[in-house]
Amino acid sequence: MRVDVVTIFPDYLAPLQLSLLGRAQRLGLLDLHVHDLRGWTEDRHRTVDDTPAGGGAGMVMLPEPWGLALDAVHRGEGAGGPVGAAPTAEPGSDAGDGAAVELAAAPDEPADGRPLLLVPSPSGRRLDQAMAHELAREPRLVVACGRYEGIDERVLLDAAQRYRVVPFSLGDYVLNGGEVAALALVEAVGRLLPGVVGNPASLLEESHEQGLLEHPVYTRPPRWRGLDVPDVLLSGHHGQVARWRRDEGLRRTARRRPDLLEALAAADPGALDRADLAVLAEEGWVPGGRRPAAPSGD
Ligand code: ADE
Repeated sequence: MRVDVVTIFPDYLAPLQLSLLGRAQRLGLLDLHVHDLRGWTEDRHRTVDDTPAGGGAGMVMLPEPWGLALDAVHRGEGAGGPVGAAPTAEPGSDAGDGAAVELAAAPDEPADGRPLLLVPSPSGRRLDQAMAHELAREPRLVVACGRYEGIDERVLLDAAQRYRVVPFSLGDYVLNGGEVAALALVEAVGRLLPGVVGNPASLLEESHEQGLLEHPVYTRPPRWRGLDVPDVLLSGHHGQVARWRRDEGLRRTARRRPDLLEALAAADPGALDRADLAVLAEEGWVPGGRRPAAPSGD
């Protein structure tokens, strides 16, 4: 997968050189290019922002540098010319007729050869594990990191002629800019690429993969500061271990994220069997019904 990130703070993305994603790049599994937006400014001060039309607080990112940047990155270029292998030819690109275009609500609209342009924004679609899986199937992602009050809306409307534009949010809180969201996105997607995580089976057991939170985990020693590893985990009974893990995942989900249980039950009524429902009832959760009064702090 090729990923291009455009930002005014390229150093923010430096941690992507570390650990698994650094290794993925060295192995050629992830082809990451980070671009400084100021490379596409044309004035002496390398200006990227101006006051908002209509007045108000803060600054808005200018359309000119963003337009040039997204045009160049679409062609596989950086501010100084081509970078990395040329991206594959994209039919249907550069429509260029100036027609009003809508932004894509989700990455799964028909691909028609346009690469995805992901725009971090507190008003975007919430990034979740299902979306990370969708994105991991794409050959190419471009991430446009805004700062200040955001990017002039015309940049995204114009870009939609060449890209499938998807604003996305990390959660219902406001960050100073899109860089932290870009880091999270590239890590969440990058670790799903084939060969990046050593044991792919481990990916399936994680929180959010089955619509539930993951069970607690333990390692050696069996007793630490008076706290024991649960006996069942040392029993060698694989069936009992699996049931205990399922039950603990269910309990944790009921206490911390009952919304996930509601969503799971609504999406697939067969996803929770009788044994599951019995465990959940002990936690005060019944489908479509009462939820636990208060988080237990577990
Ligand atoms: N930029 C500012 N806040 C954000 C958020 N919550 N998610 C993604 N990008 C953002």
